Amino acid sequence: MSAYLDMIKSRAAALKKTVVLCEGEDKRVVEAAAKITKDGIAKIVLIGNEEECKKVAPDVDLSGITLIDPLTSELTDKYAKLLYELRKEKGMTEEMAAEAAKDRTMFGALMLKAGDVDGYVSGACHSTANTLRPGLQVIKTAPGTKLVSSCFIMIAPESGNKFCKDGVFVFADCALNICPTSEQLVEIAKASADTAKVIGGIEPRVAMLSFSTKGSGNDAKYGNTVERVAKAVALAREESPELILDGEFQFDAALVPEVASIKAPGSSVAGSANVFVFPDINAGNIGYKIAERLGGFVAVGPICQGFAKPLNDLSRGCCTDDIVLTVAVTALQAGH
Ligand SMILES: CC(C)(COP(=O)(O)OP(=O)(O)OC[C@H]1O[C@@H](n2cnc3c(N)ncnc32)[C@H](O)[C@@H]1OP(=O)(O)O)[C@@H](O)C(=O)NCCC(=O)NCCS
Repeated sequence: MSAYLDMIKSRAAALKKTVVLCEGEDKRVVEAAAKITKDGIAKIVLIGNEEECKKVAPDVDLSGITLIDPLTSELTDKYAKLLYELRKEKGMTEEMAAEAAKDRTMFGALMLKAGDVDGYVSGACHSTANTLRPGLQVIKTAPGTKLVSSCFIMIAPESGNKFCKDGVFVFADCALNICPTSEQLVEIAKASADTAKVIGGIEPRVAMLSFSTKGSGNDAKYGNTVERVAKAVALAREESPELILDGEFQFDAALVPEVASIKAPGSSVAGSANVFVFPDINAGNIGYKIAERLGGFVAVGPICQGFAKPLNDLSRGCCTDDIVLTVAVTALQAGH
């Protein structure tokens, strides 16, 4: 497992990308900025000022880190103008933009939009909604997609897992889209397959999950979620025939060859899936935590996918090493 994480960091280091960390007021972020700089994983712009960084992390060497404080930076005006241009049609005035650009997460998102950094990481001390909203408002989605989604790279324990041949699975969307439509499930499947290749280094075999396998269950009286997933499978086949994808599957049918041969005979994905798309955030969030806590998998993420430029959210419970890893993943996304 640690070899896999080291590989992510060294691949990132080779790219020499610049990533903005928005929370210089947080000890873990300042420590991570120093570690990333020392290990050469990325160049870091840290939003904050020297006095405050020294206060929260007095022993940390800040050399090599670019510190920027939106309250005093000459860039703030430029970003306020950029924000105004981007949001005036949504009712933002120049005064509102001038005020909003001083916000650290918005300032970081605007740095990314302006091309002054290659990636953005925040969320150690802000909620997911507050971390991602500036990105959703100014970075927007990549060409060809209307949806930002998220996934976790799930790394098998060092002792191995007999179902996880490559040592890596991808679970989506466990953190962002609350109740995706069939069309959004297709977007999540495509983006997760891409992340599986780019970050996970595996050839994606996508299972669209449900409590039903190939029509075995029916919840027409309770929201039609089986139908929603089955429709997503049909749409994905039409839109992206090159994608190795099937469903709807129960998790065991997607994972276990013996169960697959009973419940979904003839499927090219059942029993060998490595990318699992959950029907909604309840299932996905619970599912990844079960794999983590009971299965001993390490969850890397949530990794955001579908943004026009790489922007990632940290968990507020994160540690310094999690931040280092998220910056490495962000750099890899920037290099793609
Ligand atoms: C991500 C999240 C914060 C978005 O919040 P929201 O209230 O829908 O955002 P808003 O309605 O303010 O939308 C802001 C902008 O983002 C866009 N947007 C929102 N979600 C989007 C998505 N998934 N993909 C692309 N754009 C999106 C909106 O269209 C809007 O654009 P506009 O202002 O230019 O018109 C929300 O989906 C959420 O809270 N998800 C769950 C997060 C969570 O709690 N996770 C816990 C587990 S880690």
